[in-house]
Amino acid sequence: MRNSNINSVLGNELLKVTQAAAISAVRYKGMGDKELVDQAAVDAMRSTLANVDMDGIVVIGEGEKDEAPMLYIGERLGNGFGPVVDVAVDPIDGTTLLSKGLPGAISVMAVCSRGEMNCPKSHAYMYKIIVGKKAKSAIDIDDPVAVNLSNIAEALNKDITDLTVVVLDRPRHKDLLLDIKNAGAKIKLIFDGDVMAGLQAALPNSGVDVLMGIGGTPEGVLTAAALRCIGGEIICRAWSKNDEEKQLAVQNGIDLDIVYSTEDLVGKGDVVFVCTGASNGDLVSGVELDNGGALTHSVYMGTDVGGINRVEMYYDKLQIDKLLYA
Ligand code: FBP
Repeated sequence: MRNSNINSVLGNELLKVTQAAAISAVRYKGMGDKELVDQAAVDAMRSTLANVDMDGIVVIGEGEKDEAPMLYIGERLGNGFGPVVDVAVDPIDGTTLLSKGLPGAISVMAVCSRGEMNCPKSHAYMYKIIVGKKAKSAIDIDDPVAVNLSNIAEALNKDITDLTVVVLDRPRHKDLLLDIKNAGAKIKLIFDGDVMAGLQAALPNSGVDVLMGIGGTPEGVLTAAALRCIGGEIICRAWSKNDEEKQLAVQNGIDLDIVYSTEDLVGKGDVVFVCTGASNGDLVSGVELDNGGALTHSVYMGTDVGGINRVEMYYDKLQIDKLLYA
């Protein structure tokens, strides 16, 4: 079967994958070890994915940034019998958050038709601007921050002083933060987790109007998958973390000026995006453990269904064992 029913066939199955990853990872919540959190989620994701009816290839995996040996780029996923897809996974976006017992960690993955997923693979980071549907045409990566914010404000029919820009709290954003402040917009700083933050930027009345700044390349592709389903736009460009990375890219003939849009990252075909809260977040609640069971809260999006579909699923102890070890 070639790429038929990507959404309806895969949606429910993939939800089980992020649910399993979130349940596994949350056992290590607040223990201060992000590697344990990540490993638990990776193992759960990998074992549940093996049973999914799909012929998947990891295009966005636990890449170089985390130096992970599993869910690596090019790994085959699924039982090989379903739709032929590209797969993006982030077993936990916000491993540090979860390890510190903080809100905002999710397990997330997306699929799209084979050959459609694309990004600056040489680079772990991208500079991103993300907005919702209404401000889609207002952003240009080459415009100064103040110009983008002014255009976004106009598109949203707001004063620039009423715009909130979400930015990862990192020293590399010193100049960006100054530019936003000087333009008159408000800033929401986050410690980690720019997939959820990007989604918020695209959703009306979320308290956030735009995401700006440098974050993970995988997270950018995952966000693009969600944006294809709910509307909105991401534009981004590879960001070199040092001169060495930049020189290497130039030596390898990589064009660092390429600007990627939502459709460049995940194509124009069918897309599915699923995520499950590990710890409580603004858009999705975390796993609630009780007597060996777990209540999970997830979000499912597909290009065929549109909008955000919320799914609550309770697993008792036996069901968890079956989910994780079947
Ligand atoms: P992980 O949980 O996978 O480590 O990613 C968290 C995250 O905050 C992403 O949401 C973000 O895109 C990226 O890290 C930013 O990278 P860095 O922490 O190196 O600035």
